[in-house]
Amino acid sequence: MSTLPLPDPALHDVGLDDGGQRGAKQVRLLEHVGLAPSTDLLEIGCGLGRLAYELATYFDGGSYTGFDISAEAIDWLNAEYAPRLPGFRFDLLDVASARYRPDGEQPAASVRFPYPDHAFDLVCAFEVFMHVDLAGVANYLAEVARVLRPGGSALLTFMAIWDPDEVPTYAGRPFVPIGGGVHTRFPERPGVSMAYQDHLIRTTIADAGLRLTEAIEGRWHKPWDEPTEPGHNCDVYVVAPG
Ligand SMILES: C[S@@+](CC[C@H](N)C(=O)[O-])C[C@H]1O[C@@H](n2cnc3c(N)ncnc32)[C@H](O)[C@@H]1O
Repeated sequence: MSTLPLPDPALHDVGLDDGGQRGAKQVRLLEHVGLAPSTDLLEIGCGLGRLAYELATYFDGGSYTGFDISAEAIDWLNAEYAPRLPGFRFDLLDVASARYRPDGEQPAASVRFPYPDHAFDLVCAFEVFMHVDLAGVANYLAEVARVLRPGGSALLTFMAIWDPDEVPTYAGRPFVPIGGGVHTRFPERPGVSMAYQDHLIRTTIADAGLRLTEAIEGRWHKPWDEPTEPGHNCDVYVVAPG
């Protein structure tokens, strides 16, 4: 879409963009789990709008809703994208985050998404839960269960620890275990760069009233210098209601 500006990486720190391919890869993953032009889609942690940009001309009967805790990103999306994209909505949530919003009003563990029950066919969260503590993840998954329609699904990415006896390193820093199946690359900054053991992710999914339907291993488990098939960086968990 020629009049739609590209997501602006100067606005908010959302990590590398795989050579501009991140949004397109996200669309392919979402299509794998059923995204169609008639889908009502919710994106948790929409960041700069990389996915929204890719979906600008996609919907026919469906809709896109994204929320984030970055005022800079959401203000920009509401100024640049919402007026040009009918059926697109961007919401700011004032949720605390050690990395992104230290002065946020509400803890992730108790926030309620500002949407009615059963409002969406598909929910996604790309590279968000490594910035959310375990209580926050548990609440977000319960909210995902609440806003999903029967027959819907959610695609959620995590940094998952498969083998607790091996401490993986990411970008030169080890994921240190801090107890209870939780790991972090920054023990001195709780809530920043979290990884969760696979069994804990699965238990948290089940406790939220969700059912795991597919798990896809992320590229981050491979050594940095090992050539790999292009894939998603984080581990992907696909879930469905109950
Ligand atoms: C690594 S970025 C990924 C952004 C986007 N999903 C993408 O793939 O380009 C993480 C995003 O999650 C957002 N975020 C962090 N904690 C959040 C929370 N508790 N609720 C919603 N969004 C959150 C950040 O503001 C940031 O935009």
